[in-house]
Amino acid sequence: MQENIAKYTTDGNVVFLSKEKDINKKLSDIIGEKFKKYREKWDKVNNFELVTDFPMFLHLDLFQVCNYQCPHCNISDPDLLKKAYKGSISEKMDFDKYKRIVDEGSEHNCPSIEPQGVNEPLLVKNFEEYCQYAHKKGFIDIMINSNASALTEKRAKKLLDSGLTRFRFSLDAFSPETYKKVRVGSLPLDKVVKQIEKFLELKEKGNYKLPVTGVSMCVLKQNQHEVDDFQNFWIDKVDMVTFQSFQPPNAKKDYSNFYPDETEKKPKQKKKIKSFRCPQPFQRVVIRNDLITACCNTFSTQLTLGNLKDGIYNAWNGKLANELRYIHQNGMWELNPTCKICVETTAN
Ligand SMILES: C[S@@+](CC[C@H](N)C(=O)[O-])C[C@H]1O[C@@H](n2cnc3c(N)ncnc32)[C@H](O)[C@@H]1O
Ligand code: SF4
Ligand code: SF4
Repeated sequence: MQENIAKYTTDGNVVFLSKEKDINKKLSDIIGEKFKKYREKWDKVNNFELVTDFPMFLHLDLFQVCNYQCPHCNISDPDLLKKAYKGSISEKMDFDKYKRIVDEGSEHNCPSIEPQGVNEPLLVKNFEEYCQYAHKKGFIDIMINSNASALTEKRAKKLLDSGLTRFRFSLDAFSPETYKKVRVGSLPLDKVVKQIEKFLELKEKGNYKLPVTGVSMCVLKQNQHEVDDFQNFWIDKVDMVTFQSFQPPNAKKDYSNFYPDETEKKPKQKKKIKSFRCPQPFQRVVIRNDLITACCNTFSTQLTLGNLKDGIYNAWNGKLANELRYIHQNGMWELNPTCKICVETTAN
């Protein structure tokens, strides 16, 4: 294990580990000045120092379907899914609609896109074309997470040529036993690991610099004993190893069996949150079905900024978007009922 790697700490935030001190520095070195400039602007937005006239990040839910049923994921609660996401949850966003979204982003020099939400993106047969189109239209940073179950050699080759910049494989386990528990309905872990290793081998043999690769673990009571083994196994194989903290998908359900021991907390007992400002309404829009929403929260359809037919620009500059930015700029998250539930159930 490398020495400069931070240990997993249960501070309740996403803990980011990497062989490189800063993965964005690595991407700047590969992609160049335009990437560096984009990240500088992103940092200002993220620090509430700049409000742009168009989101810097388009986060798209192409559909809400997965071949796994991880018990900690939104997708394993069908009632929640129907209620929270509205509309058809299985209908895939067609390519023409996707192109219109990307085209509008491109007109406004939007730099980053994640065409994956609560779903398994590689179940979309022509997913590579979605990435390629965004790349062709000038998006600088194109990123996805995947369970890697559909990452055949053929797909791997296509993805390497797709313009994808960040590719993170969610595994959540080191041992096959734990994998089966936390990734219900999955392929055997060794098969998935082999597919990822094949992807990495093809990347290396083909001298591809992109995408930067990562593996991730959502730290749960069920897998917390494997954090070190997971990190040690993957750290020299990929560019980043990330550990996410568990966010309860449904504020009304009891998830006490999922919280890792050190971070045990009772979602129903409201904690005093001193100060919090959410950067999402400054960074992004999340597009689900035909709705343009403010954030990736499950209930973000309650924060609908507009409809796709009226365009992203109008939604981003509409009343609710401005209101959300105002309240978060000023740390007044309690004023919005959806943010209030979100912050009280997920923030530490
Ligand atoms: C919703 S998945 C979608 C992409 C893909 N199916 C995958 O598993 O990577 C995106 C990421 O969210 C993580 N995730 C799922 N449920 C979570 C939860 N309740 N809290 C925190 N992260 C979660 C997954 O582990 C994965 O890394
Ligand atoms: S593979 Fe991803 S989308 Fe599917 S259930 Fe697991 S975390 Fe959710
Ligand atoms: S609900 Fe509010 S606080 Fe939560 S992620 Fe969305 S905008 Fe941020």
